[in-house]
Amino acid sequence: MSGKTLAGRKALITGGARGIGAGIAQRLAEAGAAVMIGDILADLGRQTADALARHGVKTGFVALDVTDDAQWENAVAATVATLGGYDILVNNAGIEITSLVADIQAADLRRMCEVNVVGVGLGMKHAFRAMRPGGPAGAGGAVVNISSVAATIAFPAIAGYSATKSAVDRLTRIAAMEAGKLGYGIRVNCVYPGLIPTEMGLQLATDIVANGLAADIESAVGSVIGQTPLGRLADVAEVADAVAFLCSNDARFITGAGVPVDGGMGM
Ligand SMILES: NC(=O)c1ccc[n+]([C@@H]2O[C@H](COP(=O)([O-])OP(=O)(O)OC[C@H]3O[C@@H](n4cnc5c(N)ncnc54)[C@H](O)[C@@H]3O)[C@@H](O)[C@H]2O)c1
Repeated sequence: MSGKTLAGRKALITGGARGIGAGIAQRLAEAGAAVMIGDILADLGRQTADALARHGVKTGFVALDVTDDAQWENAVAATVATLGGYDILVNNAGIEITSLVADIQAADLRRMCEVNVVGVGLGMKHAFRAMRPGGPAGAGGAVVNISSVAATIAFPAIAGYSATKSAVDRLTRIAAMEAGKLGYGIRVNCVYPGLIPTEMGLQLATDIVANGLAADIESAVGSVIGQTPLGRLADVAEVADAVAFLCSNDARFITGAGVPVDGGMGM
């Protein structure tokens, strides 16, 4: 997909400082959108926004911990004020804490639920309030939640993470149902990326070895590739392309869908 399919659109991307989120910000900007980066990493988030601004993109950074209701209110207000509107939310921020089921720590599981589930729920709440008719943005829009292939397969040592990403899938469907039925003019979809060698992806490969599930990182990654019909890892740009499509008018009759970007790993 190419062209200015998102010209005039205004997007907030959580966890946009680095990794998949930064790639999505760049892709949406290339498609013509103004983009706000929301993240807990203030220095890196500002650098990512500045790099986009140097290419003429209307952009900004807002400090946002997605687990905090009040920070969401502030982030949405900052997005509307900086970009002149708000009609795309990409709920990308997420964390993964690897553990065998026999070693699950309550605090780790709770933290993943906070960021991956509560964060997505609060993001959609504030997006709906802002984008629906009568809201401060009020022109409808599109939400894309970043789930994971982990929601669709059984992979060892990521039970807690997989549970939170399955929750993202369910949150997506019910939010799409409500937004449609209540006439918000907002579509809600999610994507399931396969393994990508970002900081998170590389850490997971390291943790798989530490948990005795692979001899070394090469064989940990090799086992993922072996389960992937297209025979390689995913790429940030491939996830970003799918997100840009789901936000665009080309996807105008698509809502409540989950799109795998995993080379077939989850089929
Ligand atoms: N990398 C993979 O293999 C992979 C595969 C499938 C899905 N995902 C999902 O894609 C998303 C991005 O992952 P990534 O690989 O780019 O990870 P990453 O760790 O490189 O980046 C995550 C970003 O989210 C931010 N973040 C973390 N907690 C936050 C919070 N409470 N509030 C705001 N921002 C917060 C981080 O600061 C960081 O900028 C995550 O939701 C992840 O679960 C990743």
